Amino acid sequence: MAQASIGLAVFGAGRIGAVHAKNVSSCAPQAHLVGVADIDPAAAQRLLNAAGSGRTGDIDSFLDDPSVAGVIIATPTSTHAALIAQAAQAGKHVLCEKPISLELAATAAASREAEQAGIILQVGFQRRFDDEFSRVRALVEKGDLGAVRFLRLVGRDHRPPSHEYLRTSGGQYKDQMVHEFDAARWLMGPLEVDEVYATGSAIVDPSLDDFGDVDTTVAVLRFKGGALAVIDGSREAVYGYDVRGEIQGSKGLALIGHERLRNGSLMDAAHATADVESFIERFAVAYKNEVVDFVAAIRKRRAPRVGARDALEALRMAIAADRSRAQRRPVKLAEVVDD
Ligand SMILES: NC(=O)c1ccc[n+]([C@@H]2O[C@H](COP(=O)([O-])OP(=O)(O)OC[C@H]3O[C@@H](n4cnc5c(N)ncnc54)[C@H](O)[C@@H]3O)[C@@H](O)[C@H]2O)c1
Repeated sequence: MAQASIGLAVFGAGRIGAVHAKNVSSCAPQAHLVGVADIDPAAAQRLLNAAGSGRTGDIDSFLDDPSVAGVIIATPTSTHAALIAQAAQAGKHVLCEKPISLELAATAAASREAEQAGIILQVGFQRRFDDEFSRVRALVEKGDLGAVRFLRLVGRDHRPPSHEYLRTSGGQYKDQMVHEFDAARWLMGPLEVDEVYATGSAIVDPSLDDFGDVDTTVAVLRFKGGALAVIDGSREAVYGYDVRGEIQGSKGLALIGHERLRNGSLMDAAHATADVESFIERFAVAYKNEVVDFVAAIRKRRAPRVGARDALEALRMAIAADRSRAQRRPVKLAEVVDD
């Protein structure tokens, strides 16, 4: 017998909430959008107009609604942990945007709430649902690259987010590079990160220095056993959104994202075509895939492919990077046990 469509609600109608609402509404017949909650009801209504169905309402109205099986949390980071706890208590499954929290203790507490309530808690690390990243991960898993020795990841936004966003974002490591930290753990697994060294500057916008943030950074990861990774991150790339990777092993090399570049010529603002405008275009399919997988996890009552443990470990790496930059020394992950 065909299973009933899964009802989902989206909390937060901003940049990423709009992507999720659109993707949920295209999941029929497996899932449908019950509605969108935002402290700005007009923003929620705009998403519903685009989606063509669903209602607005406050968060409680969706948590009390028996037709809602799961919620997608796309509100600002500072609200995530409390909303996960509320959703868990209401018995709703959760797909939460990254990061769950800027603090290890709150991330662990949200994870416990979800576990005790028996709900799925998936985390929005969409690189895990990107075709190129996934194919390279499969090569590592199958052993086709041989012994993995070196990983390089590049994470550069096209344009910086607003100052208002940046002020409360938690900083470049926890907010932006947390994606690369998660990708590094995932791509290199079962190798485990042992140590992080990071340095950074505020050179795109020197005023970020006022609240201790940077916009141009490098992190070096040392894995147990000696493999290495270099991650560079930037809040601005005039030539367009640029996410790339390469893994070198004893048997060869695998690349992610290099076909968008031209060798030997300047890539200036004119190179920034619509398909590299931002994460929204680059990861359009991955965002869709992560919602489809969330729905599949709910239907099959299985664990999510990327969950709270992954959020916790990526955050631990981001905290290590913050500490390393502040103290100008390599930081062992084992020493990052509190914030
Ligand atoms: N996975 C990704 O690629 C990705 C990309 C962008 C943002 N994010 C994450 O998504 C989250 C949202 O980021 P954004 O860029 O969409 O932000 P945004 O500022 O564009 O949108 C946030 C929305 O939430 C609403 N809001 C604020 N507090 C609320 C509350 N208590 N209840 C209901 N609505 C509330 C705001 O009115 C706004 O419409 C952040 O945690 C961010 O880290 C993830």
